[in-house]
Amino acid sequence: MYPLKEGQTFPRNQWYIAAWAHEVGRELLARQILGEPLVFYRTESGMPVALDNRCPHRRYPLSKGRLVRDSVQCGYHGLTYDCTGKCTAIPSQDSVPPTYAVRAYPVHQAWEWLWVWMGDPALADIALIPDSRTIKVDDPDWLPEVGGRVPLKARYQLLNENLLDLSHLSFLHSDNIGSAGVATAPVSVEERETHLEVARYIKSDRLDHLPVGKAFGLEGLTDRTMIQKFFAPSFHATGSDFDSAMSGGIDPGRHFGSLRVLHGVTPETATTTHYFWGFSRDFKRDDARMTEAMRSVIESALVQDIEALEEIEAMLAGGEGDIAEISARADAASLRGRRMVERQIENDGPARGAAVLHDMRANATASREPV
Ligand code: FES
Ligand SMILES: [Fe+2]
Repeated sequence: MYPLKEGQTFPRNQWYIAAWAHEVGRELLARQILGEPLVFYRTESGMPVALDNRCPHRRYPLSKGRLVRDSVQCGYHGLTYDCTGKCTAIPSQDSVPPTYAVRAYPVHQAWEWLWVWMGDPALADIALIPDSRTIKVDDPDWLPEVGGRVPLKARYQLLNENLLDLSHLSFLHSDNIGSAGVATAPVSVEERETHLEVARYIKSDRLDHLPVGKAFGLEGLTDRTMIQKFFAPSFHATGSDFDSAMSGGIDPGRHFGSLRVLHGVTPETATTTHYFWGFSRDFKRDDARMTEAMRSVIESALVQDIEALEEIEAMLAGGEGDIAEISARADAASLRGRRMVERQIENDGPARGAAVLHDMRANATASREPV
């Protein structure tokens, strides 16, 4: 399967953004992630919970049931599961076999996101979630904003590679956020301990005619520093610092402002993706109109990306045909990012994947035994 190998669709021993914090409360929320049906809710004390959404009794979705204090009662025959997934009540009998359970997924809230760990729970380490300060959602000089969740009808790796090759700004987004200089600027790509870092410096750029320039209040020539951080496989912080150009600017060196766009890339299925986006800025933090101006510029670019990726996915649905993929120098970061994801998939290993699957099947088998 382009661009990953057949049967190697997603890394599972990873954190993915499952929801915005405000989406999960005392109502049951059904959401498919990595092809698995999950149900989310919060306990009475506010702790987020993620369980397999399939009631192991007859597979009725637990999300169609109801919350009883911190437990979910299935809406079909009333079997009840606590927030660890353990079955605690079967209305038709007094005792519950100890193996009866649904799978519970580790879940963790960081800033306004709920992250879920889709692999072996023993490996879930919250230190692997992108650092809030690095991505500017926990920095006193920055104002982070919740964006939204877009259902994208395209495979997640297309979005990852879109975000890793920002030379597309000069073409796909030439009418809002990208000048011609983005595509031709030299790019540095460096693999850091926690992420892949990509940088571009565009000197004496002309942006004040574009919506992004107007939103920032850019005047005259601008030096633009573009920084991208990719936390494989599921998160990007991209953005730009805008300063009056040192060469030819009207006020050389003056900082106009910096913006970071935050992208959570969560596979829903092999060919669909939950796209969680937000943003953060370091200027005019008390100006609500600036928040809306930033939101509007980002949304206009987002619509263009989504349309392009859905066009590509539709093209891929017809098969890869007899054309081989070609790559250019600007793909260095995309190809590096692709390899990082492939490596993560390999590191999941068939043995560990099989073990998790075995545990789940053992549970499911045990659950089918009549008592
Ligand atoms: S399907 Fe859930 S209790 Fe029967
Ligand atoms: Fe884009």
